[in-house]
Amino acid sequence: MASLLLPVHGLVLLLVIMTCLLGVPGMPPQPPAGCNQTGCTVSNAYGVWGDRKECWVSSVVYPTTEEEILSAVANANKNKQKVKVVSGYAHTIPKLVCPASPPENSVLISTAKYNSSIQVDKDKLIVTADSGVGLRELINRVEEAGLSLVAAPYWEGASLGGVISTGSHGSSWWGKGGAVHDHVVGLSLVVPAGASEGYAKVIRINGQDPLFNVARVSLGLLGVISKVSLSLEPGFKRSITYLFKSDGSLEEEFMDHAKKHEFGDITWYPSQNQTVYRNDDRVPLNSSGDGTNDFLGFQSTLILVSSAVRSAEKSLESAKNVRGKCTLAASGLAYKKVIANGLKNNLIFTGYPVVGRQGKMQTSGSCLYSPVTSTASSCAWDPRFKGLRFYETTAIFPASRFGDFIKDVKKLRAIKPENFCGVDNYNGLLIRFIKASGAYIGQSEDSVVVDFNYYRADEPSTPRLNQDVWEEVEQMAFFKYGAKPHWAKNRNLAFSGVQNKYPNFSKFLQAKKQLDPGSMFSSEWSDEILLGKAAAKGDGCALEGQCICLEDRHCKPDKQYFCKPGLVYKEARVCRYVPSSIA
Ligand SMILES: Cc1cc2nc3c(=O)[nH]c(=O)nc-3n(C[C@H](O)[C@H](O)[C@H](O)COP(=O)(O)OP(=O)(O)OC[C@H]3O[C@@H](n4cnc5c(N)ncnc54)[C@H](O)[C@@H]3O)c2cc1C
Ligand SMILES: *[C@@H]1O[C@H](CO)[C@@H](O)[C@H](O)[C@H]1NC(C)=O
Ligand SMILES: *[C@@H]1O[C@H](CO)[C@@H](O)[C@H](O)[C@H]1NC(C)=O
Ligand SMILES: *[C@@H]1O[C@H](CO)[C@@H](O)[C@H](O)[C@H]1NC(C)=O
Ligand SMILES: *[C@@H]1O[C@H](CO)[C@@H](O)[C@H](O)[C@H]1NC(C)=O
Ligand SMILES: *[C@@H]1O[C@H](CO)[C@@H](O)[C@H](O)[C@H]1NC(C)=O
Repeated sequence: MASLLLPVHGLVLLLVIMTCLLGVPGMPPQPPAGCNQTGCTVSNAYGVWGDRKECWVSSVVYPTTEEEILSAVANANKNKQKVKVVSGYAHTIPKLVCPASPPENSVLISTAKYNSSIQVDKDKLIVTADSGVGLRELINRVEEAGLSLVAAPYWEGASLGGVISTGSHGSSWWGKGGAVHDHVVGLSLVVPAGASEGYAKVIRINGQDPLFNVARVSLGLLGVISKVSLSLEPGFKRSITYLFKSDGSLEEEFMDHAKKHEFGDITWYPSQNQTVYRNDDRVPLNSSGDGTNDFLGFQSTLILVSSAVRSAEKSLESAKNVRGKCTLAASGLAYKKVIANGLKNNLIFTGYPVVGRQGKMQTSGSCLYSPVTSTASSCAWDPRFKGLRFYETTAIFPASRFGDFIKDVKKLRAIKPENFCGVDNYNGLLIRFIKASGAYIGQSEDSVVVDFNYYRADEPSTPRLNQDVWEEVEQMAFFKYGAKPHWAKNRNLAFSGVQNKYPNFSKFLQAKKQLDPGSMFSSEWSDEILLGKAAAKGDGCALEGQCICLEDRHCKPDKQYFCKPGLVYKEARVCRYVPSSIA
């Protein structure tokens, strides 16, 4: 089987290289909401929710001004409808944007067309924009004014309102830190109101307001954010060098790295014994260099390539071919090294350091744009094509506990390093840094964020290769080390007990009650997550991370996946393939 697949990998690699050299323009993603005579559905950018169920709403409205948002909220309130806000991107993976049922009684407010105003105040170093504005437009306008926005997620396919609402971040322990909401200096919120106030009102919240720490990260649960003001700094450039080295002393070095480099991060490929340190520092605007960070994973991929990679992955999965996954992981890493993972000094990568404007180095997403009509390529996960399907686990650790987590993962790896190849096929473990924040459901201490992606099957009932290993790492992170789930990513189990992880969580809930007394903006997802209303555990629920298994039936006993304890973290309960077991 392995020998059969090797030529496929070679081909895929060649096609990937060609895609990069040709710079193929892509098909932009499809809009999140679509309607017909019977109603509308809304989906995330991957086209599939955690529970694989569709989200229905009776209508979607597209306000273009704050006044129109106000009247949309007032109408919904008057008619006792359930409401959610979604941006034109919907890049949040869990079901945050789906209003409470029944769908006949719900309305979705889209900010896709609420994106006309971006005002840069050069003296006060502040930008104020409509919440539907996309990050790229925002950043370009800020840079045109000679200024820079210091923090942004690595992915630019998101709206200003969406980014702050989920606590999205880049990487930094310096200054105000890597999370965008810590650069917010004010915002406006449209909330429900009584009949005497016309059923809705706008409240303006600045840094001194008691609601400031409630509203900066609020998961769309309080109302509709209309305007956001962010602090800026004089324009600057960044200088990036990727340093590839063995992972032997990762647990001793990660903190120093964050302290030494303003925008540093680390990618860990456990199956390859490799780490990649991103030495990433601010340099003056007059430094020479006009580089771009066009992150490989966010470039347009030929649909031919993404579907070939997917089918190769599916064959490896069904053949339980761990070695094949390792071959792919090794060649993938070698390729990333050659092309510096998408860094470009100019049109291509010619050598380190790569120096460029902050606006071109912090965030990317070239697969989002379609300069000419082309159906040949897209973002690799575009649901219209049979490309990549994966889960995303993102755990936010108190910095002090992260070293022990690394040691535990190394212990688990020592049992069989090949079991980690599946995750290294994606981006390994991306390690980033967020500074302590006053936001009630932001991070109250300096933290380390770890992201990892891994294969998701087409069918909910299909167990995955080495899924026990990833479940153990996941449970270790969230339950042994008390990591918090990134609000915009993760599978359901990661949110269990999240209410107890934020010291000011009850204050957040209190404020929600005050601002949205009728729970218009609540939904099944938010009730389950925020109030800890546990869903029933169905057969196979652990396969998709909808639950932690307690019994074999939560896994897939007829395919010999049984509920077993973890190998290093014994308290974990994972679905493990045990071919000789008697059910
Ligand atoms: C490929 C990819 C890469 C990513 N990279 C990163 C990364 O590097 N770092 C990181 O931290 N995150 C990352 N993310 C997550 C992403 O930043 C978040 O999901 C972000 O919230 C997406 O913004 P959006 O505009 O698509 O919001 P949506 O998905 O539309 O909404 C997100 C939430 O915000 C609420 N909301 C949106 N607009 C408003 C508004 N105007 N008023 C009130 N509530 C509102 C919604 O109700 C919902 O609860 C990534 C996601 C993807 C798919
Ligand atoms: C509307 O869309 C839904 C889901 O996409 C589909 O099931 C339904 O048949 C469609 N109805 C009409 C009238 O097209
Ligand atoms: C607003 O969104 C539209 C449609 O996506 C886009 O064409 C336009 O450039 C955006 N405007 C701003 C200011 O971001
Ligand atoms: C990683 O290190 C281990 C232990 O030293 C070794 O057995 C293994 O072959 C190494 N793996 C790779 C891909 O170099
Ligand atoms: C950049 O400008 C500073 C003064 O603002 C100057 O001291 C320095 O030499 C300049 N550097 C380059 C590379 O031009
Ligand atoms: C909780 O909120 C209070 C203000 O209400 C603040 O003093 C305190 O620092 C917050 N705690 C944390 C851990 O954020």
